[in-house]
Amino acid sequence: MVFVGWLRWCLVMSFTCLLLASCSINPIVEKSLRIGTDQTFPPFEFQGTGGELQGFSVDLIKAIATAAKFQVEFQSLPFDGIIPALQAQTIDAAISSITITEERAKTISFSRPYFKAGLAIATRTDNTEIKNFASLKNKKIAVQIGTTGAQTARNIPGAEVISFDSAPLALQELANGNVDAVINDEPVTLYAINTGNLQGIKVIQKLLTEEFYGIATAKNSSYLSLINQGLSKVLNNGKYQQIYQKWFNATPPILPETTPFTNQEKARLNSLSLIWQSLPNLFNGVFVTLQLAFLSVFLGLISGSLIGIIRLSHIKPVQWLARAYIDFFRGTPLLVQIFMVYFGLPAFFQELGFTWSINRLFAGVIALTLNSAAYIAEIVRAGIQSIETGQTEAAFSLGLNPAQTMRYVIFPQAFRRMIPPLGNEFISLLKDTSLVAVIGFEELFRKGQLIVAENYRAFEIYAAVAVIYLCLTLVTSQIFGRLETWMNPVKKSS
Ligand code: ARG
Repeated sequence: MVFVGWLRWCLVMSFTCLLLASCSINPIVEKSLRIGTDQTFPPFEFQGTGGELQGFSVDLIKAIATAAKFQVEFQSLPFDGIIPALQAQTIDAAISSITITEERAKTISFSRPYFKAGLAIATRTDNTEIKNFASLKNKKIAVQIGTTGAQTARNIPGAEVISFDSAPLALQELANGNVDAVINDEPVTLYAINTGNLQGIKVIQKLLTEEFYGIATAKNSSYLSLINQGLSKVLNNGKYQQIYQKWFNATPPILPETTPFTNQEKARLNSLSLIWQSLPNLFNGVFVTLQLAFLSVFLGLISGSLIGIIRLSHIKPVQWLARAYIDFFRGTPLLVQIFMVYFGLPAFFQELGFTWSINRLFAGVIALTLNSAAYIAEIVRAGIQSIETGQTEAAFSLGLNPAQTMRYVIFPQAFRRMIPPLGNEFISLLKDTSLVAVIGFEELFRKGQLIVAENYRAFEIYAAVAVIYLCLTLVTSQIFGRLETWMNPVKKSS
């Protein structure tokens, strides 16, 4: 008995010692902050060749975390999704070269400034017409969605602004000769030019504005003081200078000690009025969406039917060719196809020494058509093959030739069977048009994104966008339903 008591006492004591020892090694468990960042903004935040996140902001936030004793957990987000994510508290803070602006400060809070930057205009090296800000009037300008560059471009009279998901895509658009200029943060444009990744581009006016970057948090977040403490420490202990030197090979400028635009409040519009106000803008997008869908489905039907029929050919190589086409376009993501057509092909020709650019509508329609033709070809093939061979034999015995047999006997029956899958294809295509937003098309989804980039009301706007898509697809399925009944001789007569 005594022995058991003694053993228990020993166990309790050793466990307590272990606990104390571990506490003295790691007295407090550091909290982990989810830090959002758009990783397409070199040299501030970007992925290295091995996929590792790096850049000035990345080194800085790590140094701040060490100084203020917290852990960093990076989360990749598109730039225009950062403020909505902060509001929704799916991230705790964001470091993404975010300029501290009065408008943004009404929705989120900023740390003290950590970098002094500004916007710059970039053009192609052979452009002699654009010399300054004033000469951008009536020009085509590419920007990154939701940025201060986008805001500035929108205020230029007559300018056509095309927004992309990332700054490198906007710059690529300029290099491909599709736009006259890009307005973007100067260090980023310069870095792209200096690293030699983009050719034929120059910066014509530096530091159009003075901007300060801040680390963003949700409005009045409790993490703000922790981040500010860490940032101040890093600024004072020489670490900041070291990181600045590493990325910019220069000594940093003096930064203001406090953040401007604190205590900004915004009058919040109620949801219904907000949606109501946005509707005209969204309807402009609906028009573009429908235009894209109709054009692509029309062209897809013609080319898809041809490919479908070729697929049934008895000549083997022709049949294989059709098969290869279908396999390729069904087997690769539409998004990749859009990028290939719009960015890839012009860049490829550029390397060969030709300047060839492709019109946006043309590129969008081509990519959607190529893709839908592959699906339609299969629908047509299966439709035709579903008609029993007895029908062909009967037609032949009546003296019809193969073309007449196809035209009067097989196709009308096959077409009726093709209607439901064609309806499905049209509905998918209607939704897939949202993918061409990546090439700066202002169709319905991109219109919604642009509105959110201005008012940060993600829920209401995306809900409205979803409802509009739903109405479009419901109407489409109604139309196809009617077409099916109309084409069915039995149901039609009853
Ligand atoms: N400084 C600009 C702004 O706040 C652009 C920032 C873009 N940042 C990024 N990681 N893509 O609007």
